[in-house]
Formats: sequence, structure tokens, C-alpha cells
Amino acid sequence: MSSDNNNLRKYDDILEEDNHLPNWWLAILFGSIVFAFGYWIAFHTTDTFPNPPVVYRADVDALKKARAAANPTSEEALTALVASPEALSEGQKVFSTTCASCHGQNAEGLVGPNLTDKFWIHGAAGKDILKSVNDGYPDKGMPAWGVVIGDAKARNVTAFVLSLKGKNLKGKDPQGDPVE
Ligand code: HEC
Repeated sequence: MSSDNNNLRKYDDILEEDNHLPNWWLAILFGSIVFAFGYWIAFHTTDTFPNPPVVYRADVDALKKARAAANPTSEEALTALVASPEALSEGQKVFSTTCASCHGQNAEGLVGPNLTDKFWIHGAAGKDILKSVNDGYPDKGMPAWGVVIGDAKARNVTAFVLSLKGKNLKGKDPQGDPVE
């Protein structure tokens, strides 16, 4: 090993120079670091930009809406209505004017069964309740409401009844079978 001056070293006859790294190279290095930091903030710590989970959730929501619109009486569509404040408040209005006289102001049951407990004569699923509302059980004292209030209100009041699940208000004694 020999050295000609402080900056140049020679190993095995190969001269090693000690040059500055070129600026374009440094620019790429530090630029990448800054970019990576910004990228991490933008895409991994917030949902501001369309990162894959955000895009995925938006796609799933859009698909659910499209399916619900295509078949508004499906179980999926009725369940989705329960999450809509407009549908619930519309349904609640229909309930107080049309149903409360027999099922009680709070659906705790009167002439008609308690709709807040877990006992059901005709089924607790959205489509069962919609069927009860639409077709009724005229010989048992539950009128068929479909022709009176129309499809949209029937769906909204069904969503409202679904939203009462788990309330278990004290009222009319249980009728029908328990549904978990
Ligand atoms: C005139 C009284 C009366 C009115 C008004 C009435 N219901 Fe009923 N409803 C009944 C009776 C009685 C039954 C029980 C039928 C049976 O025993 O099979 C019933 C049953 C039901 C059931 C099935 C309950 C179960 O256990 O399966 C649902 C759901 C229901 N009503 C919802 C409604 C809704 C929503 C409205 C308003 C749009 C409404 N009812 C209006 C009397 C009424």
C-alpha cells in the first residue's frame, strides 16, 4: 500500500480516488427519502388519498347500493335501510300513524304482538316482517298494509321495526317462537 497524497490511495496498483458523490446521485437519494416520508404520511397514516382499503370500501359500498337498488325487497336491501336515518324517521312516522294503535306507541304490543321482544309468530327477518306488513293476517286482526301505504313506506316501516331489535320493552306477553 502506498499513497501519493492524502486523497489518493493505491491498493494493488489500483488508484482509489476520493471524489464527491455526484449531485444527481445525492439528489435521487435524498429525494427518495423525502418522497418516501411524504408517501407514508399520505397513504398510510390518513384516508385522505385513495389508498387500496379506501378504494375497496368505496367499491363495496357502491356495490351494496347498486344491489339494494336493483332488488329493494331483498334481505340485504332491508338491512341496509336500517342504517339510513331518513328511512328510519319515515318508518317511525308510518309506525305512529298506522301501527301504534294496535302494537303500542313504542311497539311494546297491545292488540298486536310486542315487536321489540325476540318472540316472533311469523319470523324476524326483514323479508318476513315486510311480508307481515304487506300481506297481513286478516283473519288474526292484522290488516294487509301493502296496498294502503305502498311499497316505499312498507319498506321503511319494516326497517324501523328491524331497528327495534334487542329493545325488549315490557309489554304484551311473548307470542310465537324465540328468534336469536
Ligand atoms: C288493527 C290492528 C293492527 C294494526 C293497525 C297493525 N297490526 Fe301488526 N299485527 C296485528 C295482530 C293482531 C298481529 C298478530 C297476527 C297473528 O297472530 O298472526 C300482528 C302482527 C304483526 C307482525 C308479525 C309479528 C310476529 O310476531 O311475527 C308484524 C311484523 C306487524 N304486525 C307489523 C305491523 C306494522 C309495521 C303495522 C303498521 C304498518 C301494523 N303491524 C299494524 C294487529 C295490527
